[in-house]
Amino acid sequence: MEENTFSRPAASATVLVGTQFGDEGKGKLVDYLSDKYDIVVRYQGGANAGHTICFDGKTVVLHLIPSGIFNKDCICVIGNGVVIDPNALMDEIKKVEELGYDVKGRLYISHNAHLIMPYHKRLDCLSESCLSGDNKIGTTGRGIGPSYEDKFARKGIRVVDLLNRDVLKEKLRENLAAKNKLISKVYEQEEIDVEAIIREYEEFDKAIDPYVTNTQLFLNRQIKEGKTVLLEGAQGCLLDVDHGTYPFVTSSNPTSGGACTGSGVAPNHVGKIIGVCKAYTTRVGNGDFPTELDDETGEALGRIGCEFGATTGRKRRCGWIDLVALRYSLTVSGVTELALTKLDVLDTFEEIKVCTSYMLDGKEIHDFPTEHQTLSRVQPVYKSLKGWMASNASARSFSELHPNTQAYVTFLEEALEVPVTFISVGPGREETVFK
Ligand code: GTP
Repeated sequence: MEENTFSRPAASATVLVGTQFGDEGKGKLVDYLSDKYDIVVRYQGGANAGHTICFDGKTVVLHLIPSGIFNKDCICVIGNGVVIDPNALMDEIKKVEELGYDVKGRLYISHNAHLIMPYHKRLDCLSESCLSGDNKIGTTGRGIGPSYEDKFARKGIRVVDLLNRDVLKEKLRENLAAKNKLISKVYEQEEIDVEAIIREYEEFDKAIDPYVTNTQLFLNRQIKEGKTVLLEGAQGCLLDVDHGTYPFVTSSNPTSGGACTGSGVAPNHVGKIIGVCKAYTTRVGNGDFPTELDDETGEALGRIGCEFGATTGRKRRCGWIDLVALRYSLTVSGVTELALTKLDVLDTFEEIKVCTSYMLDGKEIHDFPTEHQTLSRVQPVYKSLKGWMASNASARSFSELHPNTQAYVTFLEEALEVPVTFISVGPGREETVFK
């Protein structure tokens, strides 16, 4: 008799997510993994994220094109969940080509991806300028939020709209009539000229035409033909608009669920979910950060870790690793294995602290509160571990790491109940330990 069980299709897609507040070093891992997968896909966000990749003595920052573009056999896709700034994309295509890599025939852009228009950028900065002090979201001012607002208000302009000039003009005029009222009457600023935008976007249309396709169908068909896909998230789970520390979040879903909606890859194709986690925590912009260190140790983490935004140059806030927050983000994203990055930044600390729980109103809690009113009041409870006071830069296997480094990694694995399979001991491709 046949076994009465559901059969599970072999998984062809892997999701890679940031498990903290972004900037975990996902770029290095995607760059490494891209030669293990046929296709790499960006599924959310826009040019507000920046993946930094170091190879052959070069450092390159990519904001929209998946980092897999530097692997000549890899196909790269900008999925429907991404919002595209045409100028940023064209600059990036040029930059990649100048480095000697072909983009045509290797880059596909979803026809359903939404575009960032000049009025989105203007409104992004204007609305942020009306917020004061701690209420500022810390937006990068790149128009990402307002573009997603239009998407969900069903007023967005998508890549596909560029293909039909009449539709484009009509949609633009309609949108601008409303936006210009807001810009001139509420913000008392000069209106935006619709004709100038039309001219600019017509140019853009010609340039991106060769890359545009129905990527949802393309990806699922490629998977059917046996191809493997890496779905690359930007930012981190704690910045997810649904699951993060709202309202200090990004406008999209970096969590693994967003990988399917933002690419069209059906969920049953997803197997591994790799979470990328820094050996400590950083956050850029405002928002709750229970383990933030407003002292010399925090300064040292920032200085040694070069914690300045790849996109905006903004200084990142720094603190110890937070297992309460991590347990939550690993759960929400269903992380099956962890990649631990920037372990080398801890090389000179005699003592390394790990936040294992929070105190709230005199009680110890282990669950991460996502609402600001509660999260802003928690106090971290730390366990102290011995630092290693040595460099692991030449280590290429787990046993070559300093015993105290091994103990730190093992402690995290046990506390988070997820295996650490990739350990980064420096920014370079080769400075990596597999476990
Ligand atoms: P977002 O999508 O914006 O969140 O970016 P990201 O997660 O790709 O992070 P980013 O590219 O900004 O990487 C952070 C920085 O860390 C880059 O400058 C990397 O070169 C660097 N980096 C990555 N891994 C390591 C490491 O193990 N050690 C050190 N010292 N630096 C690293």
